[in-house]
Amino acid sequence: MTVYVIANWKMTGSLDTIHEYFPQFSKDLTETPNSRTIIFCPPHPYLSFTVSKCVGTSFHVGAQDCSASREAASTGETSADMIKDVEASYVIIGHSETRERYKYDQATLASKLENALTAGLIPIFCIGESESDYDTGKTKATLKAQLAVLKSLSCDARSILIAYEPIWAIGTGKTPRNEEINDICHWIGEESTKLTDHVHPIIYGGSVKPKNAAEILAMDAIKGVLVGGASLNPHDFAQIGNAVS
Ligand code: PGA
Repeated sequence: MTVYVIANWKMTGSLDTIHEYFPQFSKDLTETPNSRTIIFCPPHPYLSFTVSKCVGTSFHVGAQDCSASREAASTGETSADMIKDVEASYVIIGHSETRERYKYDQATLASKLENALTAGLIPIFCIGESESDYDTGKTKATLKAQLAVLKSLSCDARSILIAYEPIWAIGTGKTPRNEEINDICHWIGEESTKLTDHVHPIIYGGSVKPKNAAEILAMDAIKGVLVGGASLNPHDFAQIGNAVS
């Protein structure tokens, strides 16, 4: 099974920074004997440009969200079909920053997943607990409620990747203990299989840096990392890619 190394550039970047990024990244990235899938998720306006930079490489491109709607009258939205049309192949769905900002309910997230799957995109479905859930022992209950969306899908869900991102670990420099990450990712794997009858790769995100990437990627339940801050610097993100041993 491949190991996913995913860059979430959030609302950062420009044509210039993306242009400069790839030569440096490719220079710093070393070969690995194992299978590794590197995915860049830029803001929507830069999808095509990022795709053009990845032509002739093994890198993939993904969007950071897609619409739950299939209606043309959805001003400001980007459909999964459009993301596919510009030759991106992945889409992040349910990132905690979008869940929080737009208050997505379960039905909306289910529609986003279905639209992505129907368009032929691979969804990177994010789940994660708040700091107060973590502190009060409610992590599994929160994750179980978020995972329940998978049960309601009417199309083939086998390609979905699940990213476990504790909200309190995103952009904070804090992470759960390694054993906690591994245990919860094992559990997420079991729970998601109960819901879809498929085995989904479980990815960890939240303050993944060059210095902790190797130990996180070494855990048996973890099949990749979703990286925000450290993916903005091509040297740092290449170091994280190099941590796939
Ligand atoms: P971070 O962000 O690596 O900056 O913590 C991860 C994410 O939001 O996906």
